[in-house]
Amino acid sequence: MNGTTEQMTPEIRAFIEEWKSKPGNLIMVLHKVQQTYGYIPRDVAIETSKLLDVPLAKIYGVVTFYNFFKLQKAGKYIIQVCLGTACYLRGGDDVIKEFEKQLGIGVNGTTADGLFSIEAVRCIGCCGLAPAAVINGEVHGKLTTKDVAGIIAKYRELG
Ligand code: FES
Repeated sequence: MNGTTEQMTPEIRAFIEEWKSKPGNLIMVLHKVQQTYGYIPRDVAIETSKLLDVPLAKIYGVVTFYNFFKLQKAGKYIIQVCLGTACYLRGGDDVIKEFEKQLGIGVNGTTADGLFSIEAVRCIGCCGLAPAAVINGEVHGKLTTKDVAGIIAKYRELG
């Protein structure tokens, strides 16, 4: 958690009102929340629980079940490591584990300084460069675990 607090916007409040009695409303509302903030802020989750009359534990159950939802705001640099078939077969899994180890966070986590997030993605269309990763639109290809420290250092330097 990065400790930021977020207020529920009037748009989300209105959206909840609109969806309150419809089936599947929790997922719809959570999508709307993530679309607005980029993640599911705790304060907004609490507010949603009250307005929809759904236990907070159920909301967190849904959020953690689907990888799509994020519990933290994304970092300045989003390291998207490809785990599509070509990349996976060429060691993409080891590369992502090395990023996790060196940054001390898991997939979908964000470092405490807000600089980095790690995401696992499917084929990014650069299979010839497998294993590949995209960081804020920049493609890094033919990665090995040995490249990870240098990549992190490069972005850290940019600040
Ligand atoms: S599988 Fe990774 S770029 Fe295609």
